[in-house]
Amino acid sequence: MSVKLAPSILSADFERLAEQVGEAERAGADWIHVDVMDGHFVPSITIGPLVTEAVRRATSLPVDVHLMIEEPDRHLEAFATAGASVLTVHQEACPHLHRTVDRIRELGVRPGVSVNPSTPIESLTEILPFVDLLLVMSVNPGFGGQAYIESSTDKLRRARRLIDGGGRSGVELQVDGGIDARTARGAVKAGASCLVAGSAVFRHVDGVAAGVRALREALSGDAAEAAG
Ligand code: DX5
Ligand code: ZN
Repeated sequence: MSVKLAPSILSADFERLAEQVGEAERAGADWIHVDVMDGHFVPSITIGPLVTEAVRRATSLPVDVHLMIEEPDRHLEAFATAGASVLTVHQEACPHLHRTVDRIRELGVRPGVSVNPSTPIESLTEILPFVDLLLVMSVNPGFGGQAYIESSTDKLRRARRLIDGGGRSGVELQVDGGIDARTARGAVKAGASCLVAGSAVFRHVDGVAAGVRALREALSGDAAEAAG
């Protein structure tokens, strides 16, 4: 199965958002990643349901919404209505994670759960049977353009073991933060099936399409190995 690329619009030029999303789609992106920050769970404030809805209209790709917000339950319906295909919440922000995940599914959206770099992946053991995606944060969430935390690779390996060992191989293993042509390959070798990349795509010196291509090329060795 080929690795999914999910460009994060956090690093896009918001004046030309629809155009840039279209460019990523035509270059072969699989999902569009939308980073929602509230200024509480993480320091920054970014975007909400209105921009998510605009992204929904700009692409036919799945819209992958990453909620870095406190009390996400209060906003699930708004993001579902805005057209989210995947809604990922943070384990650290959800005291009743099972209920939150249930609610996301009830809304007709695929549920995902994320952990910060300091949160053990094993803390997701109990929720794994109920989700469609695990997201390993490979930076402390809050900003684009940070460096990949190297220990995330081992965490991805453990996440892969958890997923496969739990008979949940269909669950997407996503990694987010500092993914570029240098770090992508190691993350995929460790078991990631979906790469989020913001600056590597939207801030690539040769443009968005070149950013998507560079990531694909970095992975092509892995694809050949898997096929061979
Ligand atoms: C970080 C966000 C990421 C971010 C990734 O808090 O969740 O999705 O946009 O950006 P890069 O790829 O630049 O690290
Ligand atoms: Zn993200």
